[in-house]
Amino acid sequence: MAGKQMTPSDVVEARSDTPGTRSVIHFNNAGAALMPQPVLDTVGEYTELEAYKGGYEAAAAAKNKIDAVYQSIAGMLSCSPDEIASVENATRGWDYIFYSLPFSAGDVVITSETEYGSNVTSFLQMKRSRGVLVEVIPNDPSTGVLDVSSLSNAVATLGKQAKLVAISHIPTNNGVVHPAEKIGSICREYDIPFLLDACQSVGQLPVDLGQIHCDALTATSRKYLRGPRGQGFLYVNKQGHFWDLEPMYLDVRSARNDESSPSGYQVLPGAIRYENFERSYANWLGMGTAVDYACKWGLDVIERRICFLAETLRRRLEDEVKGTTVTDYGDRKCGIVSFTIEGVEGADVKAALAKEKINVSCSKASSTPFDMRKRKLSSVVRASVHYYNSEDEITLLIEALKRLR
Ligand SMILES: Cc1ncc(COP(=O)(O)O)c(C=O)c1O
Repeated sequence: MAGKQMTPSDVVEARSDTPGTRSVIHFNNAGAALMPQPVLDTVGEYTELEAYKGGYEAAAAAKNKIDAVYQSIAGMLSCSPDEIASVENATRGWDYIFYSLPFSAGDVVITSETEYGSNVTSFLQMKRSRGVLVEVIPNDPSTGVLDVSSLSNAVATLGKQAKLVAISHIPTNNGVVHPAEKIGSICREYDIPFLLDACQSVGQLPVDLGQIHCDALTATSRKYLRGPRGQGFLYVNKQGHFWDLEPMYLDVRSARNDESSPSGYQVLPGAIRYENFERSYANWLGMGTAVDYACKWGLDVIERRICFLAETLRRRLEDEVKGTTVTDYGDRKCGIVSFTIEGVEGADVKAALAKEKINVSCSKASSTPFDMRKRKLSSVVRASVHYYNSEDEITLLIEALKRLR
């Protein structure tokens, strides 16, 4: 990958900004990455402000900083600050859109083989409760990424029956990066709403809404963005299908009760209509610092470093650890490295590595049920790298896996 790279001294700086690197070898960045010190400081300082000033009073005092987070996210994604809503996590943001849609029997939701488990559960719930149908677009066997010509055909054939395209940009347990730009342009061509789950891509690679057309996008703070847990955001496109959608839930932040008419209320314009009155400002501000911190390195620089480490790990796993099969596929891959080791359960790999202070995760079939079922995989080990990981840490992981064998 051409372009500016992180230098060895950048890596030293990134690691010294990350106190967790002194106590653990962390390859669970797709679960929750290690927070950098500036994020810890932001969350800690704001929590103290609440303790000493009062929660509501702290929010009033920090109003400018709270507003600036919308600007930071909008800057990172190339959108407008009023298109961003604070949500508890990616899934809730996704749910706020999905469950607000007026589905009826025979409507079709189009998705990918590698869709995230929670989203799949929601499809199935909507199938059971309202008779919605689910169409799964296969991956292109030659490139491994979602087959955009199958998507085009499905959308063209289904016509008005197709009510939503909902796709995870990067699956939870596979290194593939799906072509969100191409998917978005098909959705725009056929005027079908596109809900993009960018939970694993935001913070890991450039996500540019000038390039990717989608009606809404969901992301979480704790994963590749390196923010605190319990926080996410939802982007809602001003020109898109969901801007005027009435959310399934409303409260005193997202809507106003009419003072003159007892039955009247107005839903506020903008993405704010998807927000709750009660929220964690400490986490919101922490996520804002995480966004600024990622942008300081540059998302393209971050992606290059992550891809380099991930490719190194994939190669070394296959070359050096007997019985290992790397289960990632796709022409374009990211920092999620998934694999199986013959004769050893994923959960046992995770537990054995944990004893050596190496964090990986074990992802079960229910996390991406369509894909894992098709490939007859019951679980995979997921070692997800971030730019602050070092090549020495990869060596320690490989050595630990060899001992396990
Ligand atoms: C692709 C994908 N989408 C959505 C989610 C859910 O994110 P959250 O737990 O923040 O709701 C995950 C979490 O692992 C994920 O990997």
